[in-house]
Amino acid sequence: MRLDLLSYLFVASVSASVLLSGRYRLKPYTLNLESEVPRMLQLISNTHLPEVPEYPGLSSDAGIPLSTLKALRTQWLTQFDWKKEQASINKYPQFTAEIEGLTLHFVHKKSTARNAIPLILFHGWPGSFLEFLPLIDNLTKEGKTSNGKAVSFDVIVPNLPGFGLSSAPPGNWTNQDTARVFNALMTDVLGYKKYATHGTDWGCATAYDLYDSYNSTVRATHLASLPFVPLTPDQLAAEGITLDALERFEEQSFVEWSTNGYAYFQQETTKPNTIGLALYDNPVGQLAYIGEKFLNWSDPRAGTGPSVLTHNEILTSVSLYYLTKSFISSGFIYYQNRFATNYTKAKTDAPLLFSSFKYNILFWPPALVKQTGNLVVYKNHDFGGHFPALDNPPAMVTDLREIGCYWK
Ligand SMILES: *[C@@H]1O[C@H](CO)[C@@H](O)[C@H](O)[C@H]1NC(C)=O
Ligand SMILES: *[C@@H]1O[C@H](CO)[C@@H](O)[C@H](O)[C@H]1NC(C)=O
Ligand SMILES: *[C@@H]1O[C@H](CO)[C@@H](O)[C@H](O)[C@H]1NC(C)=O
Ligand SMILES: *[C@@H]1O[C@H](CO)[C@@H](O)[C@H](O)[C@H]1NC(C)=O
Ligand SMILES: *[C@@H]1O[C@H](CO)[C@@H](O)[C@H](O)[C@H]1NC(C)=O
Repeated sequence: MRLDLLSYLFVASVSASVLLSGRYRLKPYTLNLESEVPRMLQLISNTHLPEVPEYPGLSSDAGIPLSTLKALRTQWLTQFDWKKEQASINKYPQFTAEIEGLTLHFVHKKSTARNAIPLILFHGWPGSFLEFLPLIDNLTKEGKTSNGKAVSFDVIVPNLPGFGLSSAPPGNWTNQDTARVFNALMTDVLGYKKYATHGTDWGCATAYDLYDSYNSTVRATHLASLPFVPLTPDQLAAEGITLDALERFEEQSFVEWSTNGYAYFQQETTKPNTIGLALYDNPVGQLAYIGEKFLNWSDPRAGTGPSVLTHNEILTSVSLYYLTKSFISSGFIYYQNRFATNYTKAKTDAPLLFSSFKYNILFWPPALVKQTGNLVVYKNHDFGGHFPALDNPPAMVTDLREIGCYWK
């Protein structure tokens, strides 16, 4: 009798999850974009670049240097191997699910340890799920928090709608809509009752919306950006916020970016279709536009020390944008959303952890982060930049593991 009941319960729970995964068409996914590669290489090879720079003595202040673009283009044609990159991406278990009419692509790697914390990591523009691959293996292994607690994660790394292998959303889509579909992914599709989020660049808006609006399921958040416009030095002074030397450097980078590095932001916010169509079928054009951001927003020591952000990494990212035809749709995230200027506190008692990196282009001191949530940890690193999971992956793993100190 007891056995019958157990097997009935077993069958019932299996069929419930089969039903649910049927409804969301949850399926394993293997990346295979090889058929598009010959045409991409043909276009790269057919693209002419000027022999010499238009003006002598141009510095990178004027945009990506011709010599850098030429070197990247040559590497793309002669050394870069999409097949090899694809094979190393496919070492991570990927899936697709359909939610609200969108196909969402994500990596889902479970920890082998018990009581792992489900953690979903959100990239921004011009990033993708590739950004977080260097963290996955260590996060899924058992590690220790600074206070000696064992911690490990079930890691979920999606592409935002309109990025890479996730389908493009309707034109009126916002980050709140993105938050809703990923809460459905974590709870209804993957069956987690509670989970933690991380976000950087635009991904911080999704992570923060989840933190703010889904406070029964999102029980910790780690951010490397805030979805609030940073303050100018005058505004910081008016709020009585003083900065140490590292923070002053970071604030100065924000001033520099918002003065001389912000044009793309206005372009994407106001005319995303023009730049989108201009570069849609132009891989070298996408390389110039996206490559400039990777090079300028990362630590100048990129590719050395803890950084895994090499030119090969940039070429993989740009190839993904080109091969998945997502250059236009990814840019619309600027058109559809705004960073808030009014700092408000999230409606949650869940812990908020924050990490800053010296060469980021955006900066929020602890006193500002505290205004937006239940800030429990603030770390400032003197190595890394705007793509911290590539720029300083060990620091990101260590900082994310601190979630374990607060997880209940
Ligand atoms: C957004 O666009 C979709 C499809 O174009 C439409 O079905 C939906 O009603 C729109 N939503 C809002 C809030 O306007
Ligand atoms: C990024 O570009 C700005 C000019 O907008 C320049 O001042 C800065 O030094 C560059 N930073 C890096 C890390 O290349
Ligand atoms: C800022 O947010 C608070 C709390 O949500 C709201 O009461 C206030 O009206 C907002 N101020 C502005 C200028 O939007
Ligand atoms: C979640 O948000 C609701 C609505 O703002 C609030 O009443 C509730 O106290 C919050 N719960 C937690 C656990 O923070
Ligand atoms: C992963 O863990 C190994 C072993 O502890 C360490 O050597 C490596 O730096 C770690 N990498 C990251 C990205 O944390």
